Order: sequence, then C-alpha cells, then structure tokens
Amino acid sequence: MAHGAFETTYAAAGDRYERLPYRRAGSTGLDLPALSLGLWQRFGTDNAYETQRAIILRAFDLGIAHFDNADRYGPPHRAAQQVFGEVLAKDLAPYRDELVLTTKAGNPIGPSPYLKGGSRKSLLTSLDHSLRDLRTDYVDVFYHHRQDPATPIEETVGALADAVRQGKALYVGISNYDPERAHEAAVLLREAGVPLLVHQPRYSIFDRGPELNGLLDLAAADGFGLVVYSPLAQGLLTDKYLHGIPADARAANSAFLSPDVIDDTYRKRAAALDDLARTRGQSLAQLALQWVLRRPEVTSALIGASSIAQLDHNAKALDAAPLTDEELALIDEHGVHGTGLR
Ligand SMILES: NC(=O)c1ccc[n+]([C@@H]2O[C@H](COP(=O)([O-])OP(=O)(O)OC[C@H]3O[C@@H](n4cnc5c(N)ncnc54)[C@H](OP(=O)(O)O)[C@@H]3O)[C@@H](O)[C@H]2O)c1
Repeated sequence: MAHGAFETTYAAAGDRYERLPYRRAGSTGLDLPALSLGLWQRFGTDNAYETQRAIILRAFDLGIAHFDNADRYGPPHRAAQQVFGEVLAKDLAPYRDELVLTTKAGNPIGPSPYLKGGSRKSLLTSLDHSLRDLRTDYVDVFYHHRQDPATPIEETVGALADAVRQGKALYVGISNYDPERAHEAAVLLREAGVPLLVHQPRYSIFDRGPELNGLLDLAAADGFGLVVYSPLAQGLLTDKYLHGIPADARAANSAFLSPDVIDDTYRKRAAALDDLARTRGQSLAQLALQWVLRRPEVTSALIGASSIAQLDHNAKALDAAPLTDEELALIDEHGVHGTGLR
C-alpha cells in the first residue's frame, strides 16, 4: 500500500510522557501506557489513509506508545499492518525504540490450514509476513491470537519462544485463552525461559468474563499482565448510542457490532451509567476506561478510535477522582454482564 512519497512534517510532542501513567505488566520488567491503541477496525480501506495516520501520530503524542496489531486487522486482512508500516517508515522511524508494537497470529485469515490455528508453521510464517507489512525487524510482543485445542500447546508455546530466540520478538503474549490453558502456557513459557508477558482478554463493564472465570486472579498469581480489549464495548460504553445509531458509527457499519444489541434494555443501562459518569464530572467513555483500570492486574486498556477527538477525550479518563465503593456498587447494578454482547 503506497500513498506517494513525501517528507514527514511530524515531530513528536515534547510532553508526550507527561500525559498518561505507565503501568507494570505483571511481575515482568516492562511498563505499558495505561491506554493502548488497537488497529482492529477503521485501519484499512474503510478509512482515509491521512485520518489513520493522524490518529496514530496523535496517539504517540498523547503518550500512547503501544500499538496493537494482528495479521487479521483491516479490512482487508493485513491492511492495518500495512498502514502502520507506512506510518512507521515515513513518520515514526526515528522513534522506533520508544514504540511497543505487537502482532498476533492464529485467528483465521484464509482457507489454508497454514493461515489459522496454533501450529509452528502458521505462527512463524505469519510473523515473518507481519514483519514485512509492519516494515520492522522485530515486534515487541508476538501473540497467539486464540487458543487452538487441536494443536499441542507445547508446539504453540515452542513457536512463540522461538520467535524470541530468533530475535523477531522481544516478548510473547496470548489472547482469548481460558484460564486453565493460560496457566498451562504460562508454566511452559517460564520453563522455556521466555516468561509470558501479557494475556489479552475482552473486559468491560458489560463483559465481566475475566472476573467470573478467575483470569484476573490467575494473572496476579502467574505474574503476567492483562491488556484488556474492547473496554468501551466497541462504543456501547459511550454516549453515542443513547439516542439512536449515528450513520458513521460502528454499529451501522461493522459486522462485529450488530445494531440489534442496541435495544431498550441496553439503552436503560447505558443511560444510568451515563448519569453516574456525569455526577462525577466525566463521560461514560471515561468512566468505562477508569473502571477497567481500577484493577492492578490490568496493565493497559486497549482502545480503538475512529477520530482524533475520541483519542483526546479518552486520554483524559484518569483525570477524575478514583471510583468509590458506592459508585462501584452502582456500576455493578447497571453494568450487567452480557449487555450488548452476542
Ligand atoms: N485479541 C483479540 O481477539 C481482540 C479482539 C477485539 C479487539 N482487540 C484489540 O482491541 C482494540 C480495541 O478494540 P475496540 O475497537 O473494540 O475497543 P473499544 O475501545 O471498546 O471501541 C472503540 C470504538 O468505540 C468508539 N469510541 C471510542 N471512543 C469514543 C468516544 N469517546 N465517544 C464515542 N465513541 C467512541 C469508536 O467507534 P466508532 O467507529 O463508532 O466511532 C471506536 O472505534 C482493537 O483495535 C484490537 O487491537 C483484540
């Protein structure tokens, strides 16, 4: 994907490390920004390159130096990494040492048996392809995107560890693993001398999975961090759907968020949470981000953004006072697990 040669006019903001706290990933040595930016949606052919570039650069200016990618992200698959690779080559190359770049493999990107799963073949060939797309020699974190019960975990974990030994990744992660399998992976990786850095589960006020299945406790016990995705429930934990579905919103344009989930039950719960946020002098989006970050096991909240304004707004999430026990109880009352999820 080439968008014409030009000299960058970008120089990173001098105060970029004064905006956001950085938090330690479990008992590892790596700190990550409290907010990270993911390129799952809106980073591909569905958005103007200049908008995508502007969002990435603003994120870095805000101290969001952690960018989450996967071979799957786009549309089409691979496009998000190609966009990021172009921005890296043209604008962010002088700052490569300051960036934490991730990629993931194993979620299907095609019909071939080697474009999915947890085999050594799938993982390591995907990583090589992603490095070419991202235009970098190494990623900071290489993830297995989702557990694959059909492949021996020793093979999957061995491929992750070898990516580090080959110098193609600095750390490894897993995503969407249930706690039992995550523990197995953590033990095997520790034995291999490549400790698990992070697990990436979905977690939000409307998705209490990591509380209910014990993953938060496991992260603390096994010493890995949690980078939690969709903390805004893809936008449902913002005020954008309280009075309808805007034409440019994800629920109107993406296969991953159905307009059907925006029903009266959802609206009632979201409105109650929005009221609570207002009494605290913040927005629902900011409350939702502050809520996931109240747990020390959560290293970073992994957000998406379709505009610079959203990023600027969300970056202020931690400006408000900590949540009180009374407020947390109210959030539990209206933040019912499963709201808006399929
Ligand atoms: N490991 C996995 O399997 C997995 C799965 C999913 C996601 N992820 C990672 O997590 C990242 C984030 O996921 P996500 O995009 O679902 O996260 P999210 O932060 O829950 O949702 C982001 C979306 O919410 C809307 N939004 C954000 N801020 C807003 C604001 N202040 N006001 C109104 N609307 C706002 C925007 O949607 P609009 O387009 O409607 O403006 C934005 O694209 C992904 O990019 C990816 O890196 C990983």
